[in-house]
Amino acid sequence: MPMGSTARKVSLTGIKPTGEPHLGNYIGAILPALRLADSYESLYFIADYHALTTIRDRELLQHYTRSVAATWLAAGLDPDRTTFYRQSDVPEIFELNWILACMASKGLMNRAHAYKASRDRNREAGKEDLDAGVNMGLFNYPVLMAVDILIMDADVVPVGRDQVQHVEYAADIAGSFNAVYGDRFKFKIPAAVIPDEGSAHTLPGTDGRKMSKSYGNTIPLFAPEPSLRKLIRRIPTDSVPVEEPKDPDSAAVFKLLERFGAVDVVSETRARLSAGGMGWGEVKAQLADALVAEFAPLRERYESLMAQGSELDDLLAHGADKARKQTRPLLERVRDAIGIG
Ligand code: TRP
Repeated sequence: MPMGSTARKVSLTGIKPTGEPHLGNYIGAILPALRLADSYESLYFIADYHALTTIRDRELLQHYTRSVAATWLAAGLDPDRTTFYRQSDVPEIFELNWILACMASKGLMNRAHAYKASRDRNREAGKEDLDAGVNMGLFNYPVLMAVDILIMDADVVPVGRDQVQHVEYAADIAGSFNAVYGDRFKFKIPAAVIPDEGSAHTLPGTDGRKMSKSYGNTIPLFAPEPSLRKLIRRIPTDSVPVEEPKDPDSAAVFKLLERFGAVDVVSETRARLSAGGMGWGEVKAQLADALVAEFAPLRERYESLMAQGSELDDLLAHGADKARKQTRPLLERVRDAIGIG
């Protein structure tokens, strides 16, 4: 039975493997997205071909792809209850990419935020060619993303605010296709959902701003313990002497401890900092201990999945088989609708 006709609605999460997963990803994206599996028919995939628009190092691309997949599995993604696959293992996506590129207007792509941002950067740098450094993959990025979504019959797509436009483009492109071929085949029109952006999902980074790769203030999820401890020791704090009272809420380390430390440790630390006599170094050690303890089981699972010859590749291959049960017949119907083959 095609997924779209099951009673439950379909949710699709795309994960671009362009960096080492960090704590902010875990709290802000991974956990909320995994919760969707309770109420939706859920699909999760690694958008490795999207990463190729920026990553030109083959070892790095391979590493991020495995590492991101292992992270989601370690965080609790259940490959039996969901469909978990790698984009590049589903060739139908790339055939539909061409078909939908032919339905998508170039003007729409000209207005895409990421592309416009590249042009703005070139303009600010005084470059004459505003498209300098822009490859066609970047320009076509929204079309491939529309395909990811439409080929899976997704009803909802959980994304960050910066990706909402892309989901709207998918709806727009689906509409263009449906307007022409709708008597033979109609794509479902997807909608973006922003897993509530409230404070619950926003984790401060090492500088107190939202933890984000673009601010360079992240704490990696699975760094080896010694480098994790070192990184935490280096988090900047004020230079109020140990014996003087400090404002706990002014420090990123304390805010992070509040999220990961045991309740009694947090309240005692708050009191001791406010009273004076406690230094930031001790808070940092508490934070490191809390993180090591919290993530120990996940780390173990992550490391076993990252090992050569682990079941990771089999899991992904199996996921691709499942995914293609949806994409193959859909592509057949689309080809028939447009008069190919
Ligand atoms: N563009 C998304 C990002 O940068 C990743 C992505 C690719 C995606 N294809 C998708 C997300 C399909 C949702 C659905 O985060």
